[in-house]
Order: sequence, then structure tokens, then C-alpha cells
Amino acid sequence: MKLSGLEGKRVLITGASSGIGAGMAKVLAEAGCRLVLHFNRNASGIEETLNTVQEMGAEAEVLQCDFAQLETVRSFFDEAWQTFEGLDALVNNAGIVTKSLALKDPEGVQFNETLAVNLQAPYLLSTAFAQCCIEAKQGGAIVNNSSIHAQATCEWFSAYAASKAGMDAMTKAQAVEWGPYGIRVNVLAPGVVPVERTQAILSQPAMEKKWTQNMPMGRYGTPEEMGYATAYLLSDEAAWMTGSVLTLDGGLIARGNYPRRD
Ligand SMILES: NC(=O)c1ccc[n+]([C@@H]2O[C@H](COP(=O)([O-])OP(=O)(O)OC[C@H]3O[C@@H](n4cnc5c(N)ncnc54)[C@H](OP(=O)(O)O)[C@@H]3O)[C@@H](O)[C@H]2O)c1
Repeated sequence: MKLSGLEGKRVLITGASSGIGAGMAKVLAEAGCRLVLHFNRNASGIEETLNTVQEMGAEAEVLQCDFAQLETVRSFFDEAWQTFEGLDALVNNAGIVTKSLALKDPEGVQFNETLAVNLQAPYLLSTAFAQCCIEAKQGGAIVNNSSIHAQATCEWFSAYAASKAGMDAMTKAQAVEWGPYGIRVNVLAPGVVPVERTQAILSQPAMEKKWTQNMPMGRYGTPEEMGYATAYLLSDEAAWMTGSVLTLDGGLIARGNYPRRD
């Protein structure tokens, strides 16, 4: 069965210059979407994503914005909205994976930066998207990219986990507010997905074993798998799905922290 409603859909994907965002872009291009591809610093990465999706026959444009500069987010969104004279979907994927002991960040500098990029910018983008959809008298779909850290976390992650737990809660509240306007809001919770940033460390055999032995599926995820889930959430087949957290982690969270029984 082929997913419906994706052909020609105008989708803004943030953070499409590498990793999961680039994987999402490829899958959505294959499904026939028209893409506004966002990046911040990685100009060569976004060019690669752009070339790839264009070679696949997709119509795509590139826009830059630093989401740490929150005052620039609305004008960025307005430009993205105008690119194809409107948008049908927004994928809030861009994010920073910050790691610090809370005691090493007593002023909350990194905490605040993490919340700005991972939570406040998606809030501004989603709200701008909803406003524009309502004004245009059309529905829409939002996919937020959170993390399993919103559900269970560990040392060094108070900023990151807080930002992603906030994203999960925001998703539910916005799904409730915007359901009556035909705007659906869902959130992905990926587990461990090697990307350019983490490939070298995660592919070391000892590291790979440490992680994957706790994953019932016995392997890491891929950016394309996050893309397939995104495509589903944006499709007509997910028309009744809103306010949901879709966990994609090879079973890592389901397994919990029990001792292994071999
Ligand atoms: N990989 C995983 O295992 C995993 C697991 C759970 C959740 N996630 C989430 O997946 C999303 C994508 O991460 P990734 O793993 O694919 O890492 P990545 O390859 O480092 O991608 C991060 C993206 O976010 C953009 N970004 C970073 N800081 C930004 C800023 N200040 N303003 C605007 N854009 C910014 C980056 O843009 P530039 O590089 O162009 O600056 C890049 O496109 C993140 O939200 C992350 O929390 C990842």
C-alpha cells in the first residue's frame, strides 16, 4: 500500500543539512513532497541534501536560520511559508544534543541555549504555522522530533531531556488547541540513530555492543527509518492521529533497566 496525500505536499524540514533531517528529506522527496530545507551552519551538508532530493526529482529550496537567535525565527518562517505560496506541513527536526552535568552549568547558560533551540524555536515555528494555516483556511500537520530522553534519561542530560520532555508536552497541548482547525501535531521519539556527528564513536565495536545488547531489535536505527515514520504522520492514513508520541528505538525504552536474564 502506498501512503496517500504526500504527492505535492509543501513541507518545511528544519535541520535538513545532516543526520535525521537529511534522511527525512530523502524519504519525503521520494514520496513526492516539495521541500523547504533549513540549515544553520552546515552549508556543504545542505547542498548535498538539496542535490540528492533534486536528483530524485523533488522541487526544493534552501533557507538558513540560527534558532538560537529567537528574534529571527518568525521572519525565517514567513520566508519559508512564501517559498511555495504556503506550506502544508512542518517538521521541527533541528536540535542540539547538549551534554553537561547540571552542577557544571550552575547559571544555566547551556540549559537556556538548549531550550531556545530545541523548544522555544519549535514553539515559535509551530505557532506561526498554525496561525498561517488558520488564516489560509486550511489544515496542516506538524511532526516534532523529540527523543527517548523525554521518557527516561541519565547523567549530563538535564537540559536536553528537559527540552525534549517540553516538546512532548507542547505537542499534546497544541494538538488539543489546533485539532478543531484540522491541524495535527505529533512527536517522534527516536532512540539511538548514528549520524555524521556520532558515527565514529557509535561504530566502535565495544560501543556498539554496549548499546545494542539492550535493544531488543539488536541494532541502531537509521535516519531513513525516522523519515518513514514522518511520512506516515504526514500522510492521509494518519488523519485521526494527533497528540501522539511515536517511539522508534528498537525497543530500548520498553526493555527498561532490568538485569538481563540469559
Ligand atoms: N541521532 C540520534 O540518535 C537522535 C536521537 C533522538 C533525537 N534526535 C534528534 O534529532 C534531531 C536531529 O539531530 P541529528 O541527530 O540528526 O543531529 P545533526 O546531524 O547534528 O543535526 C542537527 C540539525 O540541527 C541543526 N541545528 C543545530 N543547531 C541549530 C541552531 N542553533 N539553529 C538552527 N538549526 C540548528 C543543524 O544545522 P547545521 O548543522 O546546519 O548548523 C542540523 O541540521 C535533533 O532534534 C535531535 O535531538 C537525534
